[in-house]
Amino acid sequence: MSSQIDHLLSESRRFAPPAQFAAEAVGTTELYERAAADREGFWADQARELLHWHTPFTQVLDWSNPPFAEWFADGELNVAYNCLDRHVEAGNGERVALLWEGEPGEERRITYAELTEEVKRVANVLEGLGVGHGDRVAIYLPMIPEAVAAMLAVARIGAIHSVVFGGFSADSLRARIDDAGAKLVITADGGYRKGKVSPLKPAVDMALADRGSGEQETVEHVLVVRRGGNDVEWNPERDLWWHEAVPAASADHQARPFPAENPLFILYTSGTTGKPKGILHTSGGYLAQAAFTNRVVHDVHPESDVYWCTADIGWITGHTYVTYGPLANGATQVLYEGTPDTPHPGRWWEVIQKYGVTIFYTAPTAIRSFMKIGREVPQRFDLSSLRLLGSVGEPINPEAWVWYRNIIGGESAPVVDTWWQTETGAIMISALPGITETKPGSAQVPIPGITIDVVDDSGEHVGNGNGGLLVITGPWPSMLRGIWGDPERYKETYWDKFADKGYYFAGDGARLDEDGDVWLLGRVDDVMNISGHRLSTAEIESALVANEAVAEAAVVGASDETTGQAVVAFVIIKQSFLKAHAPEGLAGTLRTWVGEQIGPIARPRDIYIVGELPKTRSGKIMRRLLRDVAEGREVGDTTTLADTAVMSVISAQLK
Ligand code: PRX
Repeated sequence: MSSQIDHLLSESRRFAPPAQFAAEAVGTTELYERAAADREGFWADQARELLHWHTPFTQVLDWSNPPFAEWFADGELNVAYNCLDRHVEAGNGERVALLWEGEPGEERRITYAELTEEVKRVANVLEGLGVGHGDRVAIYLPMIPEAVAAMLAVARIGAIHSVVFGGFSADSLRARIDDAGAKLVITADGGYRKGKVSPLKPAVDMALADRGSGEQETVEHVLVVRRGGNDVEWNPERDLWWHEAVPAASADHQARPFPAENPLFILYTSGTTGKPKGILHTSGGYLAQAAFTNRVVHDVHPESDVYWCTADIGWITGHTYVTYGPLANGATQVLYEGTPDTPHPGRWWEVIQKYGVTIFYTAPTAIRSFMKIGREVPQRFDLSSLRLLGSVGEPINPEAWVWYRNIIGGESAPVVDTWWQTETGAIMISALPGITETKPGSAQVPIPGITIDVVDDSGEHVGNGNGGLLVITGPWPSMLRGIWGDPERYKETYWDKFADKGYYFAGDGARLDEDGDVWLLGRVDDVMNISGHRLSTAEIESALVANEAVAEAAVVGASDETTGQAVVAFVIIKQSFLKAHAPEGLAGTLRTWVGEQIGPIARPRDIYIVGELPKTRSGKIMRRLLRDVAEGREVGDTTTLADTAVMSVISAQLK
């Protein structure tokens, strides 16, 4: 981390917003002043201004039972009504909500009126299937308009969605279905990825088959969108086609109000243990902060902008900045199904040119891979419509930031580097693009209404010029309300470390520069960040040891030029296995195995077969030393190892 800090210290470029941008920007200095004077009053104003409340709230924050917060608790609203009907009622029904582009090039333009009607029909289908308030619905879909419609239909009836990224395996899907006790799964036959149909329904069938004795199946139905046209097996008792059920359902559906704290969704994310955590978000506070941040950080002017966030709906960024934030604000957005380089490496730039995208929000890993391909590709397209660029998911190195601004943003578009997490629900640290002088590589300042700090291990403020741990010092509207089914784990994971101060511990290292701006330095725990996707070392280790060949495994996240971090695994093979099998090709087999167990994003970049692993006397694997090896550095201090010779053996084996 120290070399990273030195590098960042040498970054001194500053970029002021273009004058016209500043003059028209939504985010102003008054927001900071108002929030500093009365933080709760500030959020109450935002919630009232940006949302429609069927029953207005009188209470703002209830923090009487920390860390369990309630925001706007006596208010009632309907999240889907806020994202749809009210725009139609306000006369904006003809505004395009979704500009959908399929990977093979099909196009669908869906207005707010059309999306509202579709969601009403889907809501009727769900209710007809017996899904109601508080029930859980798993959504396992590609990036098609039906994915957004499915989320909103679940929200509309007061049920809870759990979106599972389409790249996760049948096993991962099953674990998520089981943990949430989902009653319905909404999926597709398949979706387009990298030029071909990638099947989804077979994974659902697999997830729902072969249940061990004593395990009760909670899933009653599977609603299937036809997208890929691939053959699928059909269980007539359980499965329904979307294209048959939805058009046949009534387009009348009254949006009922639900309390502000009604659960909206569960989203699973990796922690430091092997089992993903179901992060729970509720309605009013989440939607208020989603809408507010989308407006002021992305500077959305709904009547004129064309907004595009490239995240998949399977991740929090897709929840907050594809489905909820932009639609609550009545914005027009691009939804693109496929991969950035199919059928050609300029596909994203072509989409920007075609739809005249003005606001573009993506991840550093994508920017770095475009940098690698070269500026000639984006320069073939007209990107002059772009006026704001955003970055999310991992630290963005100053070189990538400046490339993004210059090559994609025409040397003028402000770049906002936004720090937040699945748990925070919405953006927490970011410049406001109309008023902040931006610094390449720094997420800079908390947004209005958010209070953060960088502290040492005992919770003391480190002061400018120093590094420490990032904490959030007060509750915020879109904060997680807990871990599904595990309130103790919620307390332990996020609040116990600084219990005496009442701080939320984010798990990230950070540094304050001389101006007090925040520079994020990556995770300080065993969570890895691969291409902006969160994975835990323990999760991959348990997948590896579940293979018959593996006796023990240790996984580390090693720095990688393109993906930020890469998964590197060290495995010990069972003697009994080696007696019966040749070791050739084993690393490849294990790579594939991890892909099948968790999903392709979890496949290790490198697998090293070793004879021993470095452990402390108490048996804890010293990942720090393995990271040194994986990153090709000289191995650090080994004095606390039970067997100090182990590292030389491992290093020698890998040479
Ligand atoms: O380490 C931080 C990193 O991503 C983690 C959260 O991952 P996830 O819950 O999957 O949400 C990603 C999208 C919001 C954080 O703990 N992270 C996220 N944004 C940034 C970042 N690291 C540095 N700079 C960022 N802008």
